[in-house]
Order: sequence, then structure tokens, then C-alpha cells
Amino acid sequence: MAKNNYLPFRAKILEKLKQTEIDWTYRLECSLKPVFGQFMEVSIPGVGECPISISDYGDGYMEMTIRNVGKVTEGIDQLDKDDFLYLRGPYGHGFPVEDFYNKHLIIAAGGTGLAPVKSVINYFYANQGLLKEFDILSGFKTPRDILFKSDLDKWAQAFKVEVTVDKTDEDNIETAVAVNPQTNTSSWPSKIGLITTLIPDLQIPLLEDTRVIIVGPPVMMKHTAHEFLRRGIAKENIWVSFERKMSCGLGKCGHCKIDETYVCLEGPVFNFIQAQNLLD
Ligand SMILES: Cc1cc2nc3c(=O)[nH]c(=O)nc-3n(C[C@H](O)[C@H](O)[C@H](O)COP(=O)(O)OP(=O)(O)OC[C@H]3O[C@@H](n4cnc5c(N)ncnc54)[C@H](O)[C@@H]3O)c2cc1C
Ligand code: FES
Repeated sequence: MAKNNYLPFRAKILEKLKQTEIDWTYRLECSLKPVFGQFMEVSIPGVGECPISISDYGDGYMEMTIRNVGKVTEGIDQLDKDDFLYLRGPYGHGFPVEDFYNKHLIIAAGGTGLAPVKSVINYFYANQGLLKEFDILSGFKTPRDILFKSDLDKWAQAFKVEVTVDKTDEDNIETAVAVNPQTNTSSWPSKIGLITTLIPDLQIPLLEDTRVIIVGPPVMMKHTAHEFLRRGIAKENIWVSFERKMSCGLGKCGHCKIDETYVCLEGPVFNFIQAQNLLD
């Protein structure tokens, strides 16, 4: 009998970890081995379905970090350890990770954009000889919105990590101090200002051998890409990942289309040569 691609399978929530007031990381029982950057369609029967990036995976589990913004994600927010989510996928094209070997990799992630690249960062953390240099730039609205604080601390032991916030919120102003990797104090963010303000001062000694990943809201991706182009990075050495409204995830419904491009099938990860036309 032909496989029904719309049929989800049941996955138990093994752990639920709070990131912010509205973002939670769910560790789900699952033995799939996705490509870094792919997404799943996540559903609750009778409520609905939505696309969510795979933020990490390992032996017998998959992780997703989900922001409560509406009907389905509110339903997911109500669930707890030992409850079940329904999944289908993985879908889409991920990051060409092997192309980054022996290169200077720069990841610029805005807000929940850090979720789809977390598995890429963890891969290079576990295999530290594979890159020549690694910079991680991460921007959030306020200190309250910072995701993966303990991971950022861990990554800062091995790589250059900068976390910036657009603005501080008053009761958290004391957190706006520089991180000290030696003492491993969780004191993000280190800067105040848009993520684009971090790019002019970046050390990029190996221009031809530098690869850039940008993930975040479309306006952030557009301006961040332009800053890297200004620094001399070639368009073909930049990748972005899109979060479009989707329904089927399978190239059937057209919800995700930008002009003639099906983001669910051809993306969500695109080289900037193609993405530049989708961002305007
Ligand atoms: C490839 C892909 C990967 C994604 N990965 C993640 C992830 O890792 N974590 C995460 O929290 N979210 C992710 N999203 C976004 C997530 O799919 C939406 O937040 C979700 O569909 C909202 O559904 P809802 O029923 O809860 O909200 P709704 O009730 O449908 O909408 C609530 C509000 O969110 C807006 N909205 C809905 N969908 C989107 C969207 N795709 N982009 C921008 N605004 C939207 C609506 O306009 C409305 O204002 C991803 C989306 C895509 C396409
Ligand atoms: S989500 Fe249905 S065609 Fe892309």
C-alpha cells in the first residue's frame, strides 16, 4: 500500500524546558535522523497543525523550540512531559554542512531563528576540528527573549559568541554586561543594538573561505545579508532560512509560495543567489 505522507505519528514529550515566558523546548521521543535545518509538521488532533524547525536531535529523541503565538502553539503550550504531539516529516532542504568544513563559518540568528541553527552549532561543537573559525551572532528584542542561555555559555567556551538585544527592559538591565567565558557566568547579552551593528567590527581574515548563515525575520535577514555583502562576502557564500506560512509542507497547497517558489519543497534553506529575489 502507498505511504500516506499526510499521516502523522505519535511522539511522547520526554522533557519540557522553559526558555522564556512564551518559548519552550520540547524533547520528543523520535528516532528520525533529519538534515540540519529541516522542519516537521506538528499537530494536536482537533486543534490544528503547524511547521516547526528541528532544533536538535540525538539517539532516540528530537527537540523543537516552540513560541506560543496562536491557536496550535497555544495548544502545544498546554502540554507537558508524558503528553503526546503528532508529527510528520522531516521536510525541506537543510544546510549544506559539509560545504562549511575547513572554512570560517559565521552564523547570524535573530530571535527564534537560533532554533533551526542550534543543531548545526552543536554539530561543530562536537566536532571542533572541522571549522577554521566560528562566529555566532545572536540578536533578541530584550534580555527576557534570550533563548538557549546555557547553550550560549557552552558555545562561548569554544567559539566567538556575541549576543545583542535591541533594548534592555528595566528590571533586567543588570544582565546587560559582557560575558566572561572563564568564569562561565550566564550573563548574556553582551551588547545593546541591532544584530547588524555587530557585523562591521567582525574579524573576517579569510574572505574567500568564509561562509555565512542568516536566520530570522525577513527584514532582519535582508539587512544582515546586505551588511555581509558590504564586508565583501560573495552572495553564493550566504545561506538563509525562511519561516513562511505553510499548510501541507509537501508542495501541494501553495500556501508557502513566493512567486513560483515553493518554500516548503525548495527551502526553507536557500542560497542567497536565489533568496535575494524572495526577500524583496
Ligand atoms: C519552516 C518553518 C519553521 C518554523 N519553525 C518554528 C520554530 O522552530 N519555532 C516556532 O515557534 N515557530 C516556528 N515556525 C512558525 C510557526 O509555524 C508559527 O508560529 C505557527 O504556524 C503559528 O501557528 P498558530 O496556530 O499557533 O498561530 P496562528 O493562530 O495561526 O497565528 C498566530 C499569529 O502568528 C502569525 N503566524 C502564523 N504563522 C506564521 C509564520 N509561519 N510566520 C510568521 N507569523 C506567523 C499569524 O499571522 C498570527 O498573527 C516555523 C515556520 C516555518 C514555516
Ligand atoms: S506548504 Fe503547501 S505547497 Fe508549500
